[in-house]
Order: sequence, then C-alpha cells, then structure tokens
Amino acid sequence: MTQYKQFDCDVLVIGAGGAGLRAAIEAADQGGKVFVVTKSLLGKAHTVMAEGGIAASMGNLYPQDGWKVHFRDTMRGGKFLNNWQMALIHAKEVTDRVYELEAWGALFDRTDKGLISQRDFGGHRFARLAHVGDRTGLEMMRVLQNKVVSKDVEVFMEFSIISLLVENEVVCGALGYQRTSGEFIVFSARAVILATGGIGRLYEITSNSWESSGDGHALALQAGAELIDMEFIQFHPTGMVWPPSVRGLLVTEGVRGDGGALKNSLGQRFMFNYIPKMFEQETADSEEEADRWYVDKQSARRTPDLLPRDEVAKAINSEVKQGRGSPHGGVFLDIATRRDPEYIKRKLPSMYRQFLELADVDITKDPMEVGPTCHYIMGGLRVDPETTASSISGLFAVGEVAGGMHGANRLGGNSLGDLLVFGKRAGQAAFDFASNVNRQSLNQAKIEDLISESVSPLKRHSGYNPYELEKQLQSCMQSNVGIVRTDPELRTALEVLEDLSQKATQLQVSGTTKFNPGWNLSQDLPSMILVAKAITIAALERKESRGAHTRIDFPIPDEDFGKTRFVVKKDLQDLSCRSVAIQQPPPQLQELLRT
Ligand code: FUM
Repeated sequence: MTQYKQFDCDVLVIGAGGAGLRAAIEAADQGGKVFVVTKSLLGKAHTVMAEGGIAASMGNLYPQDGWKVHFRDTMRGGKFLNNWQMALIHAKEVTDRVYELEAWGALFDRTDKGLISQRDFGGHRFARLAHVGDRTGLEMMRVLQNKVVSKDVEVFMEFSIISLLVENEVVCGALGYQRTSGEFIVFSARAVILATGGIGRLYEITSNSWESSGDGHALALQAGAELIDMEFIQFHPTGMVWPPSVRGLLVTEGVRGDGGALKNSLGQRFMFNYIPKMFEQETADSEEEADRWYVDKQSARRTPDLLPRDEVAKAINSEVKQGRGSPHGGVFLDIATRRDPEYIKRKLPSMYRQFLELADVDITKDPMEVGPTCHYIMGGLRVDPETTASSISGLFAVGEVAGGMHGANRLGGNSLGDLLVFGKRAGQAAFDFASNVNRQSLNQAKIEDLISESVSPLKRHSGYNPYELEKQLQSCMQSNVGIVRTDPELRTALEVLEDLSQKATQLQVSGTTKFNPGWNLSQDLPSMILVAKAITIAALERKESRGAHTRIDFPIPDEDFGKTRFVVKKDLQDLSCRSVAIQQPPPQLQELLRT
C-alpha cells in the first residue's frame, strides 16, 4: 500500500490563475480555512498570458457606454447561446471588480484626464478594455498574488490533482500528488472550487501554456458533473505563425484595437469581404470609413478587422486556403505603416519585443505573420449563475472551466472580467456551503485503488509511450475538430479517440513518481482524451454553424439549435450527450438585444 499524507481545509481551490486566486481571496475574507493547489508556481498561471485587457463599461472614453451595451455585445458575440443571467451579472459587476483591483494596487494605463484607459477590442461597441500596456494578465496576477499571500491561504505549488473525492453525492476533497517529491496527498475539504482553466493542449497549435490540459473538465466528468457547450472552441485569429517553436503564441487583439490592419498576400484588407449580415449595420464597408472609425467613433462604423474572433479566424482560414496567405501559412498584420514607432512601442511593448526577439521582425517597420490558434473553450461545467455551484453538491467552478457565460463565442477581454466577477461569487458561495456541511469521512479503500491505478504505468514492463499518444491526440483534434468540421471528420476523430483511450489504459513509463514528466503525462493523458471526446460528441450533435463551431456540411445557423445546448456527462464508462432548451431572457432584456 502506498502511503499518503492528508491535509484538511474548508475550501479547496484547484488552480491558481486569476479565477482561483480571486475565489481564494473571497473565501479567506469570509473566514474560511482555504487551500490553493496549483500545478505550476504561484504567479505563473496561464492568466499571465492575457494581454489586451479587462472589458468593463466604465465609460472613461465613451460616457454613453454602460452595462446594457456590454450585456448586449456579450450576447451578440456569443450568438445568443450564452447563459443570459451570467452575461448580465458579469456586465453589471465587472466595473466594480476593476476598481477593486485598482484599489488593491493594479497600475492601469491612464487617459489624458487621469482615468483608467480603455482600448478597443472585437465585438465591443465602445472602447472598454481596462489595460496595462499589453501585459494586463501579468499585472492582474501580481496584484492577486500579493493579496493571497497577505491572507491566511495555504498554497500548494507543483501539485497535480488526479481525482475529486465524492461521498454520499457530496464532494469532500481531492487526491493529488506533489510533482517534485512524487508523494500522494489527500485534501479533505467541505467545498471544492475548480479553477483549472482551459484545454489548449489538446491541439497542436495553441496560445495556451502547458498547464491547459483540461484537468478540471476531466475531473468534473469523472465525478459525474455535467458539462455544457463543449463544441465551442475559440480559435484566436492572431497567433504567431513563425518560427515553429513559437507557432500559436498569442498576438493580442490590441494590435488591431490600436490601429493594425489584416492584409493578404496581395496587400488587400480582406476582412471587408467577410462581414456577416448580423454585423453589417455597424461595420464599415470602405477602408476610409474603417480608418475614420479610429478617430471618430461617434459617426463612423467600426473596422471589420475587429469583428468577433470567430468571424476573423474563419476569414483568415479561408484566405490561406484560397492561396492568398503569407509565406508561413498565415496572413499579414500591419501596424508599421499605420502608426508611428513610438506609439507602437508604448501601447504594445510586449508585442514589439516578442516579434523582435522570437521572429526577428521589427513590427514598427514590417508586418507580422499571424494565423488562428486554439485559445479558449467556451464550454465547461454547468453552473448556477448566481453561485457557480455545479450539478454536484459542494463542487463549484469558475473561469474557463465553467460554461455558459460566453455562449458560442467569447468576446476578447471578457475572460479576465469573468474570472474576477465569478471568482468572488464562487469564493463566497463555497464558503457558505462549507459552513453548513459536516466534513465527510473519506473512503480509504477508494483512495488506495486510485493510487494503485495511478502508479500502474510505472509497474508495466511494456506498453504505450504517453508522448506518442499525446502527439496523435493533438494531430487528430487539429485536423478533425478544428476551425471547420464535417460529419466524416468528427466520426474519424471519435474512432481515433476511442483507440487512444484503449491504449491509454496500457501506458508504460520508467522511473518513479518523483520529478518524472513521463509519469506526469501518463496521469494527464487519459483526462485529455476524455475531454477531447466530450468536445467531439457535442460537435457531432450540433448540426449547424454558430459562433466558434463551423460545420461545412451544415453552414447555416439553425433556429432550433439556436435555442438548444448540449449537456455531456459520464455514465459508467461512456459519455452521453443530450440536448436541453436554453432559457431565454425576459422581454425587457430581449428588447436590449435588438438595439
Ligand atoms: O487578444 C488578446 O489580448 C486576448 C485577450 C482575451 O482573450 O481576452
């Protein structure tokens, strides 16, 4: 029998990105004993990669902005599939969360009048992204991290969670291991908050860091929770395409917000050819009007370079397929001919250095080469909009691992706001739950079974190499469940994933549990395959194109599917997928959406 240690807390937060830290701060402020567990080091979570800013209708540049317009933009961007209550709560509360972050020490860029500066982003009617140059996530994490360490929160760094523990249908903790020592640890908790982020590592080309392997989505499925909207994967239109070592790395939408324009190999601003009907009225149809919009936003219609991400990613994909791409398979993003060098260096310091150091391109002189990169999953745990409670008692979810807020497509800048607004709510609700529930006694036999399953790849004398299978998984998802999909491709993907999940029961790695990346991957891989399956079966069911889900065989949005979402759940061995009707907003809010 493998030994393990046990630690007890009230609220266990799994994940130390912005969502996890904001939740931990709230639960600790309420008086709970709070643990945060992170795969990485404190302050290094994927949130640091968020560049452009936090969308909040503070109205610092456009006083006519407000929560109503933000709510409308979010719902339109999400193609009305959003959980409207989440979109509403977010639009109403995010401004307070930004000012709170400022009060905690965040050094936002300022306007000439000394107000928090706000930048333009795709799909937002007004410039509303509060930002710190193009390093907003880094500053947010610095502030949240400082706040966490000033509280009585214990942070467990370099720990991976392999299973949630559920007794009597209530979550009562989690089993994990310390990556450095290889020791197994049981966290006994009265409430658990999942804040594990996204799934980018399921794809070959991604803006996400190594942590984004869908852990929380998989833990939730294994525990019997419901996931929604899993078919909606956001491909950010502008990732770096060159050199291969950094392919996929994020190029912030702020480049276009601050004046950059997309061009094909013929030098054409091709986005004018891809304006969808829904956005026709508010989108400029000439270069002159598009460029005027940057200075005169009151009378001009916005540039099509800032259409929502799903539209821009599909347009780039189409230009490349039609032979009008850049030398390395992307398109050009030009700010050099449109803004002076000092402006570019001041507004986009990270982009300037990123291209200079990694691609030998001076963006004040030459265009960047960019292309779509897997960036965000809109799908995740089905949660209560007020409390973030999942379908399992005692389990809460916040940030990218939670579904509903962004519908079929997230607007840029809405994720940092989402994690602040719902992080605070999750921390409060988990503390309330923990205060009213007895600590469950843990099932020792189950824990021992989980541990022996976990070490089985080290005991086998032959079996599959997890690195090989991971590559096959990423290649399968990239080719068959990418920006555009078809029925045969999705069925091929399911066959490949079925084969991979069989093979993943027979992994073999050498060494011990101590500091062993091969064994770490053997723990992540079955979860990654499970989440890939959840995405694929939902994508197969949605026989229409909407937002980030494009079916070549069903290119038109369908009215009935527009009122339906798919719920994926694990029943015994298999995943099931059923449809549920989406609750519609009340008439006065529907009226807002029509404006
Ligand atoms: O383009 C960006 O800076 C990304 C922001 C976001 O995904 O919200």
